[in-house]
Amino acid sequence: MNIFKKIKTYNKHGRRVVNDPFHKNTIEKTKLELKKTPKRTEVINFLLSLFQRETCYLEIGVRNPEHNYNHINADTKYSVDPGVEYKEKSIDFKMTSDSFFDKLNKNEILAKDIKFDVIFIDGLHLAAQVDLDIKNSLDHIKDDGFIVLHDCNPPTEWHAREEYQYTNSPASGYWNGTTWKAFLKSRSDSGLYSCCIDTDWGVGILSKKHPIGNSIKNTNPFYEYKVLDENRKESLNLISFSELKKILA
Ligand SMILES: C[S@@+](CC[C@H](N)C(=O)[O-])C[C@H]1O[C@@H](n2cnc3c(N)ncnc32)[C@H](O)[C@@H]1O
Repeated sequence: MNIFKKIKTYNKHGRRVVNDPFHKNTIEKTKLELKKTPKRTEVINFLLSLFQRETCYLEIGVRNPEHNYNHINADTKYSVDPGVEYKEKSIDFKMTSDSFFDKLNKNEILAKDIKFDVIFIDGLHLAAQVDLDIKNSLDHIKDDGFIVLHDCNPPTEWHAREEYQYTNSPASGYWNGTTWKAFLKSRSDSGLYSCCIDTDWGVGILSKKHPIGNSIKNTNPFYEYKVLDENRKESLNLISFSELKKILA
């Protein structure tokens, strides 16, 4: 059978309808993920609410601040974004996360010894960059603080593609990138506890102090998507928001 004949069909309006199993499955998984609650904002606000003190929040990668940043309840907040996708004027530090941490370490911005209660990493979603963002954040997070990462649980390999611009994939414009690889790498750091809330494309959490999940031996040395998919729950320590609340109560 000619596979291309089976895949490419057109509806009565002349629109391309793709009916191969990869597209169908990916469209279903996208729909399922979009329905999940709570969103990242609620998870971050819950973590901030645990501190009985004035809180300080840092968001790396903001895009439209109305989507998350403006709704975060912290006493002091700082935003970092080079403005690649959204020309937001009210960003505190209009630069890449690398430049931000470099300037911070050189004492050129804020106070050199500033520590944050929660750092939300949601900038460039490629593993090497996220890994750097995690390393830098670990130097500037309070001992009992939380590092939160968006997009740690891509539902299909098409969501986990490296190329953001390619929207003709079964995941269309939805993109989690390869953040999951950096998160999985951190899961094998014996100095860190971690879990991933099964909502909003996977809200990963790292903590030096709170026992939200023990580190694991990395059984996916080549960071292959299929291996992640087969061991998703254990690999990411995928838990629900209510489970997290119980652990931290
Ligand atoms: C997924 S959006 C952020 C969404 C936002 N945090 C939210 O919750 O709605 C990613 C943002 O990261 C920014 N970005 C891209 N490369 C970056 C980098 N190297 N450092 C910091 N931010 C970056 C982009 O400009 C974009 O606005």
